[in-house]
Amino acid sequence: MQHLLEKAQQTHSLTRDEICALLRTTDPQPLFQTADQVRKKYVGNGVYLRGLIEFSSYCKNDCMYCGLRRSNRRAQRYRLTPEQIVDTARQAAELGYKTVVLQSGEDAWFSTDTLCPIIREIKKLDVAITLSMGEKTREAYAAYRAAGADRYLLRIETTDKNLYEKLDPGMSFDNRVRCLHDLKELGYEVGSGSLVGLPGQTPESLADDLLFFKNLPVDMAGIGPFIPHPHTPLGGETTDGHFELALKMMAIMRLLLPDSNIPATTAMETLHPQGRLLALQCGANVVMPNVTATIYRKQYELYPGKVCTGDSATSCRGCMQAKIESIGRFVSPGKGFHGDYLKNR
Ligand code: 5AD
Ligand code: FES
Repeated sequence: MQHLLEKAQQTHSLTRDEICALLRTTDPQPLFQTADQVRKKYVGNGVYLRGLIEFSSYCKNDCMYCGLRRSNRRAQRYRLTPEQIVDTARQAAELGYKTVVLQSGEDAWFSTDTLCPIIREIKKLDVAITLSMGEKTREAYAAYRAAGADRYLLRIETTDKNLYEKLDPGMSFDNRVRCLHDLKELGYEVGSGSLVGLPGQTPESLADDLLFFKNLPVDMAGIGPFIPHPHTPLGGETTDGHFELALKMMAIMRLLLPDSNIPATTAMETLHPQGRLLALQCGANVVMPNVTATIYRKQYELYPGKVCTGDSATSCRGCMQAKIESIGRFVSPGKGFHGDYLKNR
């Protein structure tokens, strides 16, 4: 394995078989340490914070793994008003966030004409805006971009087309790829990512996910462990091994795309009490604390056991900074675009 890590450190490329070998290793510590060194060399010790606003739990899709799926009649649905969204963004800016992430299910109530004024209003706060609202037309993406959106997050979830179309009934893998290409062409910073531990997923398909991110290439990739939700068809699945496998995926992502932004995902913290800190020490350099009003947090239940659902925006901001500093890192002051670290060095 040592020679694979040396190769990756020098060339930042690995074959599918080599990635599979790293994913299968029973001694991942050398991989994690190498990813940590590469992270330090390419993006430094700063950690970018993004304030996450979960603005609607309505979703027209029916993904088999997701608690917000439309068939989940027990899901609690809420939708913030445009004023509440802008107010939450203002609160995030006051807490020092330089990026706000607007995330929701695929909720048709938010038309382009409703969203663009929200984006323009938030832009006045001098923050970068990341959108994470699913698949839209190219025209809609272009309109948000013209209104001031900077980045877009759209996980591919899995690059195994058959598995994707089985787990996301009614959705088309090709359309999802189309969205990612449109977003890139429109000048967004593009974040993608995958779920790790889906039933039917293989090391080969996970390796393909990483090669897909490298080839696009993405500016960011969020890798999250799959956590079964009891009110979904996958509710009986296990979480065994998902945490470590997700860490390995993240670490290899750092080797392949050394200067990319990689978040320590909230789902990691659900499976391990120190999940986000461990992720920050295995290649990650971004955290996305929740800034949504506490009363709505529980209702945005993608998976069970989500952390921080009883906390406020202020407490999460302070908590995360303290955690980051406890491992000898610091909160980066900038907006944190891809490559900023190299430019500012
Ligand atoms: N476990 C972990 N992550 C999930 N997501 C959706 N459902 C689950 C689950 N059960 C992730 C998807 C989506 C992101 C917003 O949340 O990857 O892209
Ligand atoms: Fe929310 Fe720690 S980040 S309480």
